[in-house]
Amino acid sequence: MTSIFHPELFKDKIAFVTGGGSGINRGIVEAFLRHGMKVAISSRSQERLDKAATEMQEQTGSEVLAIAADVRQYDAVEAAINATVEHWGGIDVVVNGAAGNFMVPAAHMSANAFRTVIDIDLNGTFNVSRAAFATLEARQGNIINISAVQAAHPMPFQAHVGAAKAGIENLTRSLASEWGGRGIRVNAIVPGPIAGTEGVDRILGQFNLVEQVEGTIPLRRFGTVEEIGNCALFLASPAAAYITGAILVCDGGQHMVNYGPMLGVMRQVDPKL
Ligand code: HXC
Ligand code: NAP
Repeated sequence: MTSIFHPELFKDKIAFVTGGGSGINRGIVEAFLRHGMKVAISSRSQERLDKAATEMQEQTGSEVLAIAADVRQYDAVEAAINATVEHWGGIDVVVNGAAGNFMVPAAHMSANAFRTVIDIDLNGTFNVSRAAFATLEARQGNIINISAVQAAHPMPFQAHVGAAKAGIENLTRSLASEWGGRGIRVNAIVPGPIAGTEGVDRILGQFNLVEQVEGTIPLRRFGTVEEIGNCALFLASPAAAYITGAILVCDGGQHMVNYGPMLGVMRQVDPKL
């Protein structure tokens, strides 16, 4: 795809992307790399990160640092942020993309299952943002959080994810209001269903709903990781210099129909929905 953004848009800029070794977040990393950014990717699996870093460096010629850290553990997150700052001198853009998801009816969800998703998505987003605050302030940087349609439009079997992502959207606005005076912008992207990702597999794949849901989306197709990458390029760039606290929905209009088309299939699992 030909980019409408200048190839050196982010020359000498540094990003730190959680979950950057796979899926949507990897699409964002590749977009950054193709526009001059150096990127540290972080998630739990060092092996997965190393493989992704090697592939992306070969594809783009830009430098990628791979640092394992569980976003639920503040000390590990802080160490990963510090290692990136030591390596490159600072961080200009943080993307909080790490997440956990599975479909489970709330009446059957264990307390630990609920806590686990809140911990990865919401607490993880706070941990990384907090640990990166000093370097972001020093470099007048910005944060991009990754939400989901479930935050504003509740979906059956997604109580944990909806609560976590709604928390992320509120945190986005809270940090945007607190840190605006420190020169840090904080925004969020809401991807709709994105083709070829783990999220679509976990939510739609297991109910064989991929084709059915795709046809109900106003733009009649799933999104691509490149399209979410474009949103991140815009929000991270000087073109968005006056944008903070924004929740940018990129979903082909899915939020307007939400889970309605899935209800029939879901009722086969829980007839009382
Ligand atoms: C019910 C489940 C479950 C499931 C786990 N649990 N999977 N409960 N149904 N399918 C419960 C466990 O039984 C346990 O509770 C608790 O959750 C923690 O599970 P662990 O396996 O110990 O957790 P952990 O090893 O930390 O793994 C986290 C995880 C896992 C979220 C459970 O799935 C994971 O690593 N996911 C990362 C990748 C991912 O989810 N990608 C999708 C993001 S997409 P008990 O009580 O038994 O101890 C996304 C899409 C949005 O967010 C929208 C798309 C359209
Ligand atoms: P994915 O590839 O599974 O991405 C999730 C990433 O999070 C993985 O790289 C995973 O790597 C990392 N991760 C999980 N738990 C972690 C932890 N405790 N600490 C650090 N990293 C952790 O899924 P995806 O579908 O592309 O989703 C990416 C983002 O987009 C998520 O925020 C998701 O909620 C959001 N989203 C996706 C869709 C969609 O259609 N796919 C729609 C809306 C929103 P490790 O396993 O190595 O830790």
